[in-house]
Amino acid sequence: MKKVHVNPLSKTKKTIYVPGDKSISHRAIIIGSLAKGLTKVKNLLEAEDTLHTINVYKELGINIEKKKHIFFIRGRGLFAFREPSRMLYVGGSGTTIRLTLGVLAAQNFSSTITGDAQIIKRPMRRVIIPLSKMGAKFDSNNGYAPIKIYGGSLHGITYRLPIPSAQVKSAIMLAAIHADGKTEIIEPYPSRDHTERMLKYFECNIKVKDKKIIITPDGELKAKNITIPGDISSAAYFMVAGLLVKNARITIKNVGLNPTRTGVIDVLKKMWGKIKTKNIKVKYNEPVGDIVVSSSKLKGITIGGKIIPRVIDEIPVIVIAASYAKGKTVIKNAEELRVKESDRIKTIVTNLLRLGVKVVEREDGMIVYGNEGKPFKYVDIDSFGDHRIAMAFSVAALVSENGLLIKDTECINSSFPDFYRTLNSLRRK
Ligand code: S3P
Repeated sequence: MKKVHVNPLSKTKKTIYVPGDKSISHRAIIIGSLAKGLTKVKNLLEAEDTLHTINVYKELGINIEKKKHIFFIRGRGLFAFREPSRMLYVGGSGTTIRLTLGVLAAQNFSSTITGDAQIIKRPMRRVIIPLSKMGAKFDSNNGYAPIKIYGGSLHGITYRLPIPSAQVKSAIMLAAIHADGKTEIIEPYPSRDHTERMLKYFECNIKVKDKKIIITPDGELKAKNITIPGDISSAAYFMVAGLLVKNARITIKNVGLNPTRTGVIDVLKKMWGKIKTKNIKVKYNEPVGDIVVSSSKLKGITIGGKIIPRVIDEIPVIVIAASYAKGKTVIKNAEELRVKESDRIKTIVTNLLRLGVKVVEREDGMIVYGNEGKPFKYVDIDSFGDHRIAMAFSVAALVSENGLLIKDTECINSSFPDFYRTLNSLRRK
């Protein structure tokens, strides 16, 4: 088990880049594999989760090659996958398994999909239920992986999502493009819309009106070229670092600024964080720009309701900001945190208590009492095998007395293999 001692940081002035967006990378591999023709992808995230997606689609007969930093995906069309000769394996990637269930449900062969010890504990019924309404058939381990998918023809449905989830709506959309007739999906409130944007870019007949997505399939998707923007979820660690460290100014270039993902900027600004975005352009149907943050005195706020899906993956690092702020931060309506790579409410609270932060666990979130800029004391932090916990508490280490020992850091490879190299670059002139 790898351990990393992260030292405090007293000042920094740096321009950095973060790797390609994980959500968009998964979708580029999947939609590129479904489209007919050659899709070229630049700045694809090369981390464990996305490499699992590549392997799954290679196993389904798609030729995916990397030459000089560009991925070449030779899609063969919606119904041209090969029956896999073995069980499909997604490692720890929730996005790979849930989105791929939508694809496999519509194929004319049966397949089985599973993943690592973490993934087999994550709920899959949320995807199995709507796909079954479309006519799909599954055998699962009581709503968990491994899942056998009996592929077959699907029909369109109207489905109201009980929870806002991009993975669930994407699984339905990827099934819907294969189905007979129209599918309508209604979300309670918006979650990330990368699938909608990319399907449109690949010339799918998709319309989005308010909270409703309408797909009327009319043939094959067209292969395209795409460059993936930097991942705002990875940028979030450096945004909080720039706010907490004294005498800091960090510029993060070329980050995806899709409004369904920028909740972290809104929240940190509301906490009085000095954050600016600039050079915003729309590229390949996704807004991209630079983020500039500088040292700030933060205050506590309440975070709940509609904004939760827009900040769900950034809550661990937002909580680090809240712990160092003045006053109380309340996080509510965030029960989805309990079914991420770890039970993030529990794993955050456990580590905060070790750090000496006053925090109260709630079923749907937590209440954090900020320490008003008092350096965190030296302790061991357990990542519980969750990349976002490991990276969030590495940021806390920057404003600790004597650093922090972060245990079990291999999990960071699932989304940001170069995380510590980028963090250490803040120390160099
Ligand atoms: C993701 C959707 C979110 C998010 C996850 C990535 C996606 O999950 O937490 O990290 O790429 O669609 P849910 O759909 O379960 O909310």
